[in-house]
Amino acid sequence: MIILLSVIFMSGHTIWNFQIPTRIIFGEGCLDQISKITTEFGAKKALIITGRKAMRQHGVIDRMINLLEPIEAHSFEEVEPNPSFETIENAIRVFKEQNCDIVIGLGGGSPLDVAKVVAALSKKEKTIAEFFVPPIKIESKDCPMIAVPSTSGTGSEATPFSVATDTEKEEKKVATHRLLFPETSLVDPLIYKTMPKDVIAQTGLDAISHAIEAYWAKRAQPITDTIALDALRHIFSNFRIAYQDSGNSIALSEMALGSLEGGMALSNTFATASHAISFPLTAKYNIPHGLAVALTLPLFLEFNAPSIQNKISGLLNVMNVKSIKEASKFLTKLMKDIGQPTRLSELGIGKDDIPWIIENGFTPSRVANNPREVKAKDVEDILMEIL
Ligand SMILES: [Fe+2]
Repeated sequence: MIILLSVIFMSGHTIWNFQIPTRIIFGEGCLDQISKITTEFGAKKALIITGRKAMRQHGVIDRMINLLEPIEAHSFEEVEPNPSFETIENAIRVFKEQNCDIVIGLGGGSPLDVAKVVAALSKKEKTIAEFFVPPIKIESKDCPMIAVPSTSGTGSEATPFSVATDTEKEEKKVATHRLLFPETSLVDPLIYKTMPKDVIAQTGLDAISHAIEAYWAKRAQPITDTIALDALRHIFSNFRIAYQDSGNSIALSEMALGSLEGGMALSNTFATASHAISFPLTAKYNIPHGLAVALTLPLFLEFNAPSIQNKISGLLNVMNVKSIKEASKFLTKLMKDIGQPTRLSELGIGKDDIPWIIENGFTPSRVANNPREVKAKDVEDILMEIL
């Protein structure tokens, strides 16, 4: 009997679960459906939360306000990259002053992340700083949230994460809660045509990191593996094309899909060491998030390889290479091809900065999900190698 049970136990998968509660609507022109969605929620006044320039400049805000009629809409256009707690507080204040009952995050990951917190927290007696200290104790949302992404990278439209910066402590904080998933995401690749070249490059690198980290994460499971590899297929075949020709509808659509899938996979596995080390690089040295993550990704691939032997063939296949060393070079070459630096010194970071980066990026809880145990010395070696 004991033998039989062990065979059954050994032959099956370990227990895992997969959850994406967000309704995802994908395709060119799907923004037109926004009024139908807000009507389904019974909303009367929407707050559109967005960044400071791009969506206004490209006429997306005006178009959205027109599409939302007869529902009234007000816009909050003050979200900076890596938004501060203060920006979230300001967005909540405007939401209350305007008596809104639905929130729409429009733009890159930052506006979406701010909108998620507004929807979760606007009527609660909690400070933003308290909210970003785990575990988050909330039972319900205060209003529905719709995500309309404009960059193919963060995957925030399909994740339960919100990232904000504690500017006083120069620290990036991540809030994770199932109620931070958007209710509905409208992924319209036509909006992605507003991306400048550098944004395509840096957010695309973020999407790659999400898919690769989801694939090798300790919490990975069969569904996330499948989605992560598919994300990489779409991205690797189209990244250079999208970067060179930001008007290429097919390439942008494929990047949008890859980014969405990267977010879906990551939403269930969570991130690993490359994301952990990226946080101090962004908080103190202002390195765009996607680039900050990608800087260490090729070397973490080499570092993690011994612990993901059963998965390596999947990664090599999507990159069309034969060894981990080649895969690592594939990623570095891709970064160079899309005009991005691959070394810390190119970004003004020197040897003396490394101890601070390790101290602030390397925390046991942030790297616990990495497939191979990471020690501070390993991080130091990796950072020295990309100096
Ligand atoms: Fe990311």
